[in-house]
Amino acid sequence: METKILNIGGKIINKELIKEASNEIIKGGVVAFPTETVYGLGADATNEDAIRKIFEAKGRPSDNPLIVHIADRSVIHDIVEELPEVATKLMDRFWPGPLTIIMKKKESIPYIVTAGLDTVGVRFPRNRVAIEFIKACGVPIAAPSANISGKPSPTAGKHVVDDLNGKVDCIIVSDDADVGVESTIIDVTVVPPIILRPGGITKEDIESLIGKVLLDKAVISKLDKDERPKAPGMKYRHYAPSGQVIIIKGDLLDIVNEINKKKNFYINSGKKVGILATYQTKKYYNNDDCTKVIVLGDRDNPETIAAQLFNALREFDKCGIDIILAEAIKICGIGMAIMNRMLKASGFTIIEV
Ligand code: TXA
Ligand code: MG
Repeated sequence: METKILNIGGKIINKELIKEASNEIIKGGVVAFPTETVYGLGADATNEDAIRKIFEAKGRPSDNPLIVHIADRSVIHDIVEELPEVATKLMDRFWPGPLTIIMKKKESIPYIVTAGLDTVGVRFPRNRVAIEFIKACGVPIAAPSANISGKPSPTAGKHVVDDLNGKVDCIIVSDDADVGVESTIIDVTVVPPIILRPGGITKEDIESLIGKVLLDKAVISKLDKDERPKAPGMKYRHYAPSGQVIIIKGDLLDIVNEINKKKNFYINSGKKVGILATYQTKKYYNNDDCTKVIVLGDRDNPETIAAQLFNALREFDKCGIDIILAEAIKICGIGMAIMNRMLKASGFTIIEV
């Protein structure tokens, strides 16, 4: 399949190109587009044939539901059966933005979108290109992240081109995603609401608005074989680069020592090693023929770390890195989303020092 690649500026938006991309959706095609979290792969949420193409292009298991994206709050009534008061509060405060709210779905949303569930996740992104694109489509847009299933989510247009060129109708290339991890998913069909996936909106921010919420166990701990996460997608090994990720947790200097020790061990056994460092620790590591150090960002400003994580995992893959040694991050604020993605990428391989 020939993929149309459209370069759309992030600041001054070319409306002609937006129109061209939205025409592909109207014709029943699939289009990758930027959002503030990660790039998405969209199709008309009411068109079953179009939705099927999303699953095919990504190689996504059919039991993993898609999020429905809107760019106008009034559309919500066409998608969900009931709008709990707590959902309205969350929307007032965090929309447009990186929060997906799970509610009871209406008939208009086909079961292929929700993987057979009676609930649907709805999100109103704040990226301006996303908003213009969804508005131009005139229909709600079902969209998972625009990566091959299992790979790190795409935070740059070139990541999407690497993964999906030739497999989708159109790719909108715009600025890099600024949040860098996916939206927070909260299920408000239960009391108290429960966070199924941590993301761009923090648990602390949500609790300061609506009070105590629960956290699905799958977020930061490995489930037993017979346990199931509430977000079906959380059961898959995700965000996984080709190299094996090992997370090191403890006091910062102990982490650094352990990483350097492990690095030497792996290099001596013929492996190429990647190190996920931070501003605070970069002076303790050296790049050499067998080691690639990537500084993710600043521990005092973990948003910078979130923004770089997926790009770094993809970079390691490009360099043929076998082992990725990652410094653990504090599990608070956006740090919860960062650690959740690292834990999944590592298959919950974490060493305490
Ligand atoms: O930031 C984001 O949310 C990005 C951008 C493109 O908007 N999208 C995204 O979609 O991350 P995806 O498909 O990669 O991840 C959606 C997650 C999956 O783990 C899925 O199982 C869960 O949301 N999910 C979707 N609908 C659900 C539902 N009705 N109940 C429980 N989990 C649901
Ligand atoms: Mg995804």
